[in-house]
Amino acid sequence: MAELKIVEYPDPILLKKTEPILDVKKPAIKKLIADMLETMDLNNGVGLAAPQVGKSVRLCVIKVDGITYILINPRVTYKSWLQETWEEGCLSFPGKFIPVKRPKKVRVKAQNELGEEITIKAEGLLSRALQHEIDHLDGKLYIEKEVRLRQKNKKQDILKKKQ
Ligand code: NI
Repeated sequence: MAELKIVEYPDPILLKKTEPILDVKKPAIKKLIADMLETMDLNNGVGLAAPQVGKSVRLCVIKVDGITYILINPRVTYKSWLQETWEEGCLSFPGKFIPVKRPKKVRVKAQNELGEEITIKAEGLLSRALQHEIDHLDGKLYIEKEVRLRQKNKKQDILKKKQ
């Protein structure tokens, strides 16, 4: 295993939609998974997507509550209507924590490292991590979803003053 270098914004690979993985058991994929797990742990990340280590393939890893998830070709198959706003960070944006609004619950289908189809139903931190990482695989970044609390407050202040 080896620690990989984390790609930081504004590297263009972070904005590219990734390619599906056709051969899950390929040695190069096995090695990439092992290296990504090590890199996530060494950086205390909750999740890491392949584009963040310079590989534009549909693979991400997540670790929540001591449970490790390896997700190959994941897709969100259900999003709850109810949304919630949480503060999120990203290893590609060191030190940047911003409020992001997302569906509260999701269901995700993916393949595991053995090529088996898995389904994950999630809420809380796991739901958050799944949505953040799958967004990476679609070339989408959390900064696009920032809840502009300050702007909203400013508007409210202006309204108050007018009254
Ligand atoms: Ni991220």
